[in-house]
Amino acid sequence: MILDVLDAFRAISASERGNTRLAYTEWEDRARDVVRDYLRALPGYVMVDDAAGNLFVVPEEATGVDGRPIVLIGSHVDTVIEGGWLDGTLGVAAGIASLSTLGADPETPLPLGLVVFRDEEGVRFNSGLFGSHVFAGLCQPTDLAKQDRDGCALGDVVPNPAGCLDYTPPVTPLAYLECHIEQGLRLEDAGARVGLVTGMVGIRRYDLTGVGQANHAGTTEMRRRVDALTPVAEVIGKLPVLVEDLEDTVITCGRIGVRPGAPNIVPGTAQAVVEIRSGNSETIEIVSGRLQDLVAGATPAISGGRCAELSLTGIVDVPPTRMDGDVLRDLASVVEGLGLPHLQMPSMAGHDAQHAAFRCPAGMFFIPSLEGISHAPDENSRPEDIEMAAQVMTAWAQAVLARLA
Ligand code: GLV
Ligand code: MN
Ligand code: MN
Repeated sequence: MILDVLDAFRAISASERGNTRLAYTEWEDRARDVVRDYLRALPGYVMVDDAAGNLFVVPEEATGVDGRPIVLIGSHVDTVIEGGWLDGTLGVAAGIASLSTLGADPETPLPLGLVVFRDEEGVRFNSGLFGSHVFAGLCQPTDLAKQDRDGCALGDVVPNPAGCLDYTPPVTPLAYLECHIEQGLRLEDAGARVGLVTGMVGIRRYDLTGVGQANHAGTTEMRRRVDALTPVAEVIGKLPVLVEDLEDTVITCGRIGVRPGAPNIVPGTAQAVVEIRSGNSETIEIVSGRLQDLVAGATPAISGGRCAELSLTGIVDVPPTRMDGDVLRDLASVVEGLGLPHLQMPSMAGHDAQHAAFRCPAGMFFIPSLEGISHAPDENSRPEDIEMAAQVMTAWAQAVLARLA
């Protein structure tokens, strides 16, 4: 069944350039409709959207502040630009398969539900794990003020902005379980089929903006121009140096733009997003300090005594998070019982589980990614590993329910 569900997600938005389903667009909405279509007939279940538009498919008796506490399986259905078919959808499809198996008996309703978080990828608004950030109770007015490239604010597209700031979850979670593709090669290198995730990296993002003076690219002499891009490019070129002595720490500039953005105009503004990731919060502080020094010391584009101004502003800060020991032990017993070779490993990707961990014990497992490719159209996993993900998720949910519910 899980492969059929994944095919249904893929059919919505697949093209030669992969899948693009950005958050709060018609494409993410259509993927949420796939979830509704598969689970509509589940007896005793209702579908609830929270203030951020996260979709909960839960037993009716679990809703509201006095509802029966439940175990939640979750992930996301938005994608990056030109992404793959499994990032996020694997976890949601495994949840649909588990609920269809375990939640289909009206005589013995289990306290088990599914959550489909909005805007995990954060591509459109530079928001990063936004839906689960709201679920964690962390949303701030500055989050809602973030704008996409067309100037549309996140606060203008969420269903209930005030409810995001003063958030009450629609259910009380006992535990949160997620599965995902690994997006790397550690499992393949170790000959393992399941990765038991011990924790997730912290992610910090900065907006690096240079402000200069837009002007004619032909007639403005080199000594007179105030080019906004020159100092921004200088900083970006030196980013790898900031982490070269640090283990398991990465730094990336994955987005850059100039305005007005024409070959015959000296850039008036240049804007880049710089992202730091590490499993160690002290390391993130160290690299942030180095970045600030680099920006402060960048050669200004001097012109007639004027220089382009550089600013560095924090826009995302997700701390490194550990997964819950008991939930992980339940998972280890399940994979050992199924005879699956496994490996304990940290995640260098961010996942909704790290925000769910603010509300309840959370755990996560990975299945192998072919050639370690992800956030790209060639993202793939073996069909037998995808089927196994549904099997492990179902057995894990049963184990957690047996212990907690
Ligand atoms: C999510 O995919 C992330 O790690 O950015
Ligand atoms: Mn994902
Ligand atoms: Mn992703």
